[in-house]
Amino acid sequence: MKRYLISRRDLIKHACAGSIAFTALPETLFAMSDNVIKRKIPSTGEEISIMGMGTSRTFTHDTPMQQLGEVLQAFFDHGGQLIDSSPMYGPAEGIVGELLKTTKNTAALFAATKVWIDGRKNGIRQMQESMQLMGVERMDLMQIHNLRQWKTHLKTLREWKEQGKIRYLGITTSHGRFHAELETIMKDEPLDFIQLSYNIDNRITEERLLPLAEDKGIATLINRPYQRGDLFRKVKGKPLPPWAGEIDCASWGQYFLKFIAGHPAVTCIIPATTKVKHMVDNMAGGKGRVPDAAMRKRMLSYLASL
Ligand SMILES: NC(=O)c1ccc[n+]([C@@H]2O[C@H](COP(=O)([O-])OP(=O)(O)OC[C@H]3O[C@@H](n4cnc5c(N)ncnc54)[C@H](OP(=O)(O)O)[C@@H]3O)[C@@H](O)[C@H]2O)c1
Repeated sequence: MKRYLISRRDLIKHACAGSIAFTALPETLFAMSDNVIKRKIPSTGEEISIMGMGTSRTFTHDTPMQQLGEVLQAFFDHGGQLIDSSPMYGPAEGIVGELLKTTKNTAALFAATKVWIDGRKNGIRQMQESMQLMGVERMDLMQIHNLRQWKTHLKTLREWKEQGKIRYLGITTSHGRFHAELETIMKDEPLDFIQLSYNIDNRITEERLLPLAEDKGIATLINRPYQRGDLFRKVKGKPLPPWAGEIDCASWGQYFLKFIAGHPAVTCIIPATTKVKHMVDNMAGGKGRVPDAAMRKRMLSYLASL
């Protein structure tokens, strides 16, 4: 990937000073990872790129490895860091690990996976295997998948964090039926991350869990940002509003992702894709301007009016 030495800020500075003819410079002159929106992980203050990627049902053997390699390369080239996987996703962890061996520009990788099994010993074995499969000596984030045996695994995760085997620990869900229990855990147990579903058409977690995460200083990973692709079916053939450019949105994908990014409790969004052009689209949703509360209302009203 060809990178350019001049930053967007310097470019604009020179252009304003008249030392560069600004209008003559194509957009491709900007490094592809410029303008990336970053969010702080509250428990440490570490910054990560707001746009991560999921691997469920996408990093499988149904898609050629070469294509998935290109998807992964586009992710890193556009400033991506956090990859979310799980032993529940079949071959996904292994495919990520295999592809990382030949992917360039991966220094900022933030590897996240999950434990999803019963029993302490099985949990330990599964987590060790995940690290091997993904090819990391230390997992950046280990999460308990869907609260499964969370009391058992949380103990192990605390020990592992102390021992430096993982950097952060968390718990995930995508089901409303787990929300009340997750809320109790968030109140009672120190957590670095929670992962939950949130998108423009499914805003239940806006009511209690996202405000609680903000209050307690827990980072959030947002899964199902496209409601598994349903959101695109809803807007098929419908135009973006003429003001979409005010928040740097050039596609429906970016519109949906920017809506999520505008929530102050959101740390990282993890859309999943098998296609390079969709990955490039998704990464553009993690760059540029973020909608404020008033703009988010406008985005909701426009969608409701279609
Ligand atoms: N309990 C849990 O822990 C839990 C539960 C659910 C999800 N997750 C995590 O969250 C991730 C994301 O959720 P998800 O995979 O369920 O659903 P999602 O990201 O909301 O939607 C994925 C679908 O959107 C399509 N897509 C992606 N980018 C697109 C674009 N720019 N334009 C058009 N279509 C696009 C993909 O198809 P193409 O391949 O054609 O692009 C795919 O069918 C998962 O992969 C997983 O890592 C965790």
